Amino acid sequence: MAARRAKVIAITSGKGGVGKSTLTVSLGIAAASTGKRVLLIEMDVGLRGMDIMLGLNNVVYDLGDLLEGRCNISSAIVPSPNVPELYAIVAPVLMGQVLLQDIQLLVEGLRAYFDLIFLDMPAGLGLGIRATCAVSDLALIISTPDPVCIRDGNQVVRELAARGFTSHRLIINRVNRKFIRRRVVQNLDEVIDGVGSQLIGVIPEDPEVTLFSSSGRLPDEKGELQRICRAICSRLDGEYQPLIIR
Ligand SMILES: Nc1ncnc2c1ncn2[C@@H]1O[C@H](COP(=O)(O)OP(=O)(O)O)[C@@H](O)[C@H]1O
Ligand SMILES: [Mg+2]
Repeated sequence: MAARRAKVIAITSGKGGVGKSTLTVSLGIAAASTGKRVLLIEMDVGLRGMDIMLGLNNVVYDLGDLLEGRCNISSAIVPSPNVPELYAIVAPVLMGQVLLQDIQLLVEGLRAYFDLIFLDMPAGLGLGIRATCAVSDLALIISTPDPVCIRDGNQVVRELAARGFTSHRLIINRVNRKFIRRRVVQNLDEVIDGVGSQLIGVIPEDPEVTLFSSSGRLPDEKGELQRICRAICSRLDGEYQPLIIR
């Protein structure tokens, strides 16, 4: 097997509950559907959710077991039951302090086995920021259009910049469709300027998305969420894709 060299992408946000985990899984499904081998690592200790989103009901070991030596790497990596070439390491329900050097060793070691590794980071300015700077090639900052979320997203950009990390892009999530139709460019521009990161995707508010992230019902391959996520993945590969905003 030819050695791979995964690109590592951190999914971050200032505020919690903005859709990081949902989008990590959606982007993973989209990338795997184009033939890439993809690993999702859920880093949000105590806030596991990826097992439900991916429909995994046979998880035995998690990131905590792996980092604390209770299992080997192949038992912690769980394949998606529905999507070929998609794998996950789920978050620990409980664990002591996560050491940055352990994360670094793990992610660097895994690069050779995948094409893409998505890290679903904890919100806020702690571990999420430190781990993003230490191991990732690019950060995707998720923000909704509300002012608190924009300000917190900008705080993430500043914290990354303070550590010399400037490789980031913005995904605006949960955009109201009426808002899109009425004054699209102006309003989205305010979010982009407020957060201070270049836009790579816009995701509408969509009850289908809630259904997927709360029940493990896979998003429709031909549906809007997957079309947008495939476009984002292809922009991550440096290809031009027009922004889908309707
Ligand atoms: N585009 C969207 N439309 C509707 N609901 C969404 C959307 N994105 C996320 N959600 C919902 O928001 C909630 C929080 O999402 P989650 O991915 O768990 O956020 P985070 O990982 O940032 O804490 C979930 O109930 C999810 O279904
Ligand atoms: Mg989450």
